[in-house]
Amino acid sequence: MWRKLENLNKIYESGIVLIIRSDNEQEALAVAEAAIEGGIKVLEITMSVPNALQVIRTLADKYSDVLIGAGTILDGETARAAILAGAELLVSPQLNPEMIKMANRYQAITISGAFTPKEVLESIEAGADIVKLFPAEVVGPQYIKAVKAPVPQAPIAPTGGVTPQNVHEWLQAGCVGVGVGSYISKAAQKDGDYRKVTAAAKEFLQAVAAAR
Ligand code: 3PG
Repeated sequence: MWRKLENLNKIYESGIVLIIRSDNEQEALAVAEAAIEGGIKVLEITMSVPNALQVIRTLADKYSDVLIGAGTILDGETARAAILAGAELLVSPQLNPEMIKMANRYQAITISGAFTPKEVLESIEAGADIVKLFPAEVVGPQYIKAVKAPVPQAPIAPTGGVTPQNVHEWLQAGCVGVGVGSYISKAAQKDGDYRKVTAAAKEFLQAVAAAR
């Protein structure tokens, strides 16, 4: 199958894009590995992780069936560097036309941050594959319904405050998937027990499956 389509399917089918933010390279890797063990198929390593490109390269080499992405991309140069490191998904907190152009050149997937209806539309027009509603927790699922009334075609994934307890509300509001950070990626923060990351990933994936 066309690689980009396969990757888009991966996002839609799993319903979760895991966001890994850490100030420690080894922790980021450990979280990624534990989450993949729990069934996570799509993840992004934010560019704020030390040696993020190396982490991306290591994961992309090791897990050919997992869509590895780079997050918090702020410019075209970083987008290209991430793609060269093996990222097939690029995520930005805001509309970043340079990132989208670079991603489209290499057929990587883009998830582009937006908050207002105007930004959602501009992201689609700029060629983003998915629009990340951020920060989602301050508006709630009702906001998705309101935005999708005039723009039902918008492929939106909320990020910020999504949990297994509320994920069904977001999916029922018409989201194509959700971005998840702390619920999974910080599950081992207190005691370094990464089995908790694996368990949180499984719990979240079950909640998504039950909601569909
Ligand atoms: C991020 O970009 O890190 C997201 O906002 C994560 O949100 P969450 O930790 O509430 O899932």
